[in-house]
Formats: sequence, C-alpha cells, structure tokens
Amino acid sequence: MDSILVTGNGPLNGQIPIAGAKNACLTLMPATLLSEEPLTLTNAPRLSDIKTMTALLQSLGAEVSALQDGQVLAMSSHNLTSHTADYEIVRKMRASNLVLGPLLARFGEAVVSLPGGCAIGARPMDLHVEGLEALGAEIELKDGYLHAKTSGGLKGAVHEMRFASVGATENIVMAATLAKGTTVLKNAAREPEIVDLVECLRKMGAQISGEGTSTIEIQGVDRLHGATHQVVTDRIELGTYMLAPAICGGEVELLGGRMSLVDSFAAKLNAAGIEVTETANGLKVARKNGRVRSVDVVTEPFPGFPTDLQAQMMALMCTAEGVSVLEERIFENRFMHAPELVRMGANIEVHGGTATVTGVGRLKGAPVMATDLRASVSLILAGLAAEGETTVSRVYHLDRGYEHVVRKLEGVGAKIERIKGQ
Ligand code: EPZ
Repeated sequence: MDSILVTGNGPLNGQIPIAGAKNACLTLMPATLLSEEPLTLTNAPRLSDIKTMTALLQSLGAEVSALQDGQVLAMSSHNLTSHTADYEIVRKMRASNLVLGPLLARFGEAVVSLPGGCAIGARPMDLHVEGLEALGAEIELKDGYLHAKTSGGLKGAVHEMRFASVGATENIVMAATLAKGTTVLKNAAREPEIVDLVECLRKMGAQISGEGTSTIEIQGVDRLHGATHQVVTDRIELGTYMLAPAICGGEVELLGGRMSLVDSFAAKLNAAGIEVTETANGLKVARKNGRVRSVDVVTEPFPGFPTDLQAQMMALMCTAEGVSVLEERIFENRFMHAPELVRMGANIEVHGGTATVTGVGRLKGAPVMATDLRASVSLILAGLAAEGETTVSRVYHLDRGYEHVVRKLEGVGAKIERIKGQ
C-alpha cells in the first residue's frame, strides 16, 4: 500500500485547479439508466470511486467509456443484461445504491445489496425505501439485498422525508422522473450536487422544479432522451484546498471555485482570520500573518457547514489560537482522524459527537494512518504545517476522492511525495 510523505515547509503560493465533483458524478452516472439514449458527462473527476461506479454500471450491461484521460464519460444503457447491484461492488462504495431509483423507474424492478456499514457510520437506507415505497414500489429485504419491484409502474406522490438525506433525495427524484403523475418531495436535501443532477435530468427531458430548496416537484414523463452534461465543480475538494494556505500561510487561487458552493465554509474561514475573495478564475484564499483564530463548527445539511469538511477544518483548528468545539451532527463516527492528529501533538478531546480542540503552536510530524477519505486529507493538511516529516499510510482512501493530490500541492510549493508501497 502506498503512503504519502509530507514535510512542513512554510507558506504556499500559486494556483490549484479544482476538478468535477465526485458526489455529483456518482449520482449523474446512474442517471444513464433512465434512458435508452446515450448520456455523456464532461469534467468528470479521475477517481477510484468513479471507476467503481463504472464497473457497477458495466455489470448491469451498460456501456461506459472513459475518454480524454477519464474526463469524459460516454454512457449508454440501451440493452441492460441485469438489474442486480452485487454486494461485491456495493460494499466498496455506498453510492452504488443510487442505481435503485433509476432501475425501478425504467424497468420496474431492481435488486440492490445493502451497502453494509462503513468507517464513518451504519448508513442505513430506510429513507430511500420509504420514499420509493411512497411512489408505489414494493421493497423487501432478503439475504442482505433490497428486492424492489412495481406492478404497473411508479406513481407520483407527496412525500416528506424524516431527514434531508442526500442519497435518498437523489434516488427518489430520479425515480419520480418516469412515474405517472406529479411527485412533491418535502424536506429534500439542498446540496449543489442535487441541483447539478436536476439540471442534467432536465436536459434529458425531465420536468422538475424547486431543486436547491427543501421542496422539489417532479412531473413524470413517459421517457427521457440522451444529453451531454458538465459535472459541477467539487465543493469538497475546493474547501479542502482552501485550507492549505489557511494552515500554512501564503496565498492560493483555487481555479473553478465559486463562493456559492462554499458560502458557510468560507464564512467560518473569514471568522478564523482567513481572507477568501472571488476572482475572475475562482476563489483566492490568503493568510497574511499571525495565528488563525479558533472558531466553533456544527456540521449540518447544505447550506450548513459540510460534514465532508469537518476533518479538514479540525486540522486547521489544531494550530489555531484558542479553543474550538466541533460538533458532528451528520455521522455517528466521524472523528477517527482525531487520534491520528493527537499523535502529531494536537490537543483534542472527543466526547460522543463533539470534539474540543485546544490550539497548539505547531504540530510535529509523525507516521499516521488514514482511516477514511476525508480523514486522510486532513492528515496531509496537518503534515503541510507540521515541523518535520509526516508519513500518511493507507492512501487508497485518498484516491477515492482526490485526483493528483501530490501534483496539485507540489504546484503551490508543498514538499510532498508519494511513496510506492512494497
Ligand atoms: C452523501 O452521502 C455523500 N456521498 C457523503 O459524502 C456526504 O457525507 C453525505 O451525503 C452528507 O452530506 C455521496 O454523495 C456519494 P445522507 P449519503 O443520506 O447520501 C443517515 C464523502 O466523503 N441516513 O445524506 O449516504 C446516514 O446514516 C461522502 O464524499 C439514514 O439514516 O448521505 C447519515 O447519518 C461521505 N437513512 C445521514 O443520514 C437513510 O436512508 C446523512 O446521510 C439514509 C441516510
């Protein structure tokens, strides 16, 4: 297994290009199942999760071609051979469950393995099931698989979700595009990735309104046609790299960034003493002098502070002046980066869903282990600002969500290299 060696070496300066959003691409790809005509995605990120979704769609008989070094995904599902998403693939990536809604809508049946738990939590699918049953699906759990079917097709309905689940919103909206009649989805998630999905579905002929708000209305249509869609910028990669000049000092421009993708996160950085400004090409982040101020963080559904930036923000707070309280309200076990940061000299106390971080002057480099996708990059950020060398092991977690990390950080002056595993 590869590892990454980082050496703290002062301020960072320059530009970092931000890729297309992993979490948008992972819901846009299953959308190809809704039409027998081709769907092409541009600005796709080159990530192992995208390869996993590609393998899943191909296991169903869909054609998926990665063109232009993986930045273009040309897909077609005009002759599927299976409607079963196998455990072997789903257990590797929870987002595989996003084939459920499209398969049900187009073929009236789907068999999708429950993903099983993952490092950050149990991550059940009850909200997906409730929403699809409201549209008339009959779903039963057998041998770890959800067996879903509809006799006579899905029917539009009014449904209020108990929690604004991102994945459940995506499955229900995709299913509703081909249901008979109108669906009103209340307490829908408002993430930019959902807005991007709806914009793509609209290009395919879907009739949807309200995306980005808590109420999404879908007028079912008989069929959807093909389209070409550009994947929205990845707000989590954007926020992650905004923290690089914040924790190291210097000034970095994030190409392709937009303030509207990271409003609440940028507000927190401003409160901590970091300058965030929009430029013609993206976002510029600067930390001129003095220590960062500690700020409190509560993770919430969009437009609140993103849970996917909590680990990275904790790394910054470890070096800030004062005490920061970080409350993780989305997942039940998302502080596994804390003990690794403590190995680097951080002062963190975790009680349940709350972490209290007392800033220390400077962290010390140490060998640490990545435990999940966002924790891995949190350790890299800490290593960039630490004294001495930090080796982050198990970087396969990183490859799931960040393309060319070493190249992007080297480009702004970081001392970082990937060490091939034996
Ligand atoms: C999406 O996961 C993202 N993944 C996650 O990003 C992100 O952390 C999460 O949304 C929250 O923003 C993708 O988009 C592929 P949820 P998802 O359904 O859809 C509970 C990353 O690092 N829940 O909004 O699975 C669930 O257990 C990943 O890129 C139920 O209880 O998130 C969790 O506690 C990590 N029942 C909370 O809701 C359900 O049926 C949020 O889950 C569904 C979810």
